[in-house]
Amino acid sequence: MKLPFPVLSAQEAAALINDGDIVGFSGFTPAGAAKAIPSALATRAKEAHDAGQNFKIGVVSGASTGDSLDGRLAEADAISFRTPYQSNRLLRKQINEGQVKFVDMHLSMLPQMLRYGFLGKLNWAVVEACEVTAGGGIVLSTSVGASNTFLRLADKILIELNSAHPSTLLGMHDIFEPQDPPLRSDIPINRVYDRIGSPICVVDPSKIAGIVYTNLEDEGSPFEEGSPSTNRIGELAAEFLVNEMKAGRIPPQFLPIQSGVGNISNAVLASLGKNKEVPPFEMYTEVLQDSVLSLLEEGQCTFASTCALSLSPEKMRHFKSNIDLFRRHIVMRPQEISNHPEIVRRLGIVSMNTAIEVDLGGNVNSTHVMGKTLMNGIGGSGDFTRNAYLSIFLCPSEVKGGKISSIVPLASHMDHSEHSVQVIITEQGIADLRGKDPRERAQLIIDNCAHPDYREQLHGYLHQVKAGQHEPISLSLGLAMHRQFIRHGDMRNINWQEFG
Ligand code: COA
Repeated sequence: MKLPFPVLSAQEAAALINDGDIVGFSGFTPAGAAKAIPSALATRAKEAHDAGQNFKIGVVSGASTGDSLDGRLAEADAISFRTPYQSNRLLRKQINEGQVKFVDMHLSMLPQMLRYGFLGKLNWAVVEACEVTAGGGIVLSTSVGASNTFLRLADKILIELNSAHPSTLLGMHDIFEPQDPPLRSDIPINRVYDRIGSPICVVDPSKIAGIVYTNLEDEGSPFEEGSPSTNRIGELAAEFLVNEMKAGRIPPQFLPIQSGVGNISNAVLASLGKNKEVPPFEMYTEVLQDSVLSLLEEGQCTFASTCALSLSPEKMRHFKSNIDLFRRHIVMRPQEISNHPEIVRRLGIVSMNTAIEVDLGGNVNSTHVMGKTLMNGIGGSGDFTRNAYLSIFLCPSEVKGGKISSIVPLASHMDHSEHSVQVIITEQGIADLRGKDPRERAQLIIDNCAHPDYREQLHGYLHQVKAGQHEPISLSLGLAMHRQFIRHGDMRNINWQEFG
């Protein structure tokens, strides 16, 4: 059927967007990210810059995106501000050098921040779809992210209608946007598979400025094979959860799992699948990575509620070839719902996220290396951690060839406080912090999670701390291991007197 909207080339669509505009792009990880229009925008920005003109836009998306969006726009120096999350090396550099303003925020909060205008007026929604109807019905592609909110709030809409995604994705999305207080009522998801919304987004057709036809795969990258360290972390996490079940703290039918982004999370889920004592479980999570697809096929994961299908290219092809099987076991929700604190608390989720560093109090830094350099952003880790029934952080005990300990006296930046963090797992072991006071926490974290190369020196730190105070903190020595790394390139063999 011929659609009553202008058919545009990506260049024609990009030409409609002006310097200074704020654009809400679809995409939650590279899954479902707009591709052709941001790429054409980058070319446009380069041409404008060559002609001595300004051209930068504000880029809002669900989370990180693919190379055609963050990568190309960063290369073209075309981003003025970015929110809420990113994982592109060049963009990260531009943010850390102060060239791009970045607002790091809980992903569940983005739609509300937009509704209340804290991020400015959204001029454009540029959204990838697998189907569009003449009446303004839009079937999103491999993620929802915040696209439903972008589509509703933006002045104008451009759609990338991507034939690389099957139109049989129809029915896999559950679009629901809460009202703002005081009209907000409960969000009636009581089981991970409950559906509460519509399979499509519906917009005022007069806002659709054009359709760009594309045939482009999502730009996900393959996951690394698990290392001995990540595999050990995964095994320990699976064993810990089995023991919680045996102790009656997790019911025999298990609790829904949330798992973060990256290689460690992928390895943990694979370990959950391998452990014969872990019963079939459900997931209520924001990203569905490769390992979950296999678990769904094996019946080890029975249902997954997610915001995005963050699959490697190979697994995405597998998903598409078997979509009839997977559609019975997957629902994609907006990030405001996939990460909603009310539902996370109600369902009793077990959250598992990765830390950059953990301090002896159990505070976690997920975002800033040495307290200063942004890695990616907090993403959804805070949405889940603060509200989970059981919140777990995972990380290797040391990184960079042992020169950096992930266990430090005091976190150089804090994303998750000791009040929300319950369990730490490294390849060395598990520190279960529940019910422990600050000194007990510190001992447990050193003895069970720190790398042997660092245990003595971390105990040495505790010896320097005065007795008779609630938190074992030394204000002068708390960041000494970081300062030593900056001075000497290695946190090991510290001389505490040098920093006292
Ligand atoms: N100091 C310096 N660098 C560190 C570090 C530390 N304490 N800890 C980790 N790193 C570096 C690693 O060396 C690696 O660097 P490289 O890219 O140069 O190799 C990089 O951080 C990524 O670490 P990696 O071990 O590959 O783990 P990962 O891919 O699982 O990513 C996080 C770890 C913490 C960066 C990532 O999980 C993240 O961004 N988390 C925050 C958002 C989040 O949790 N989202 C999920 C919610 S659903």
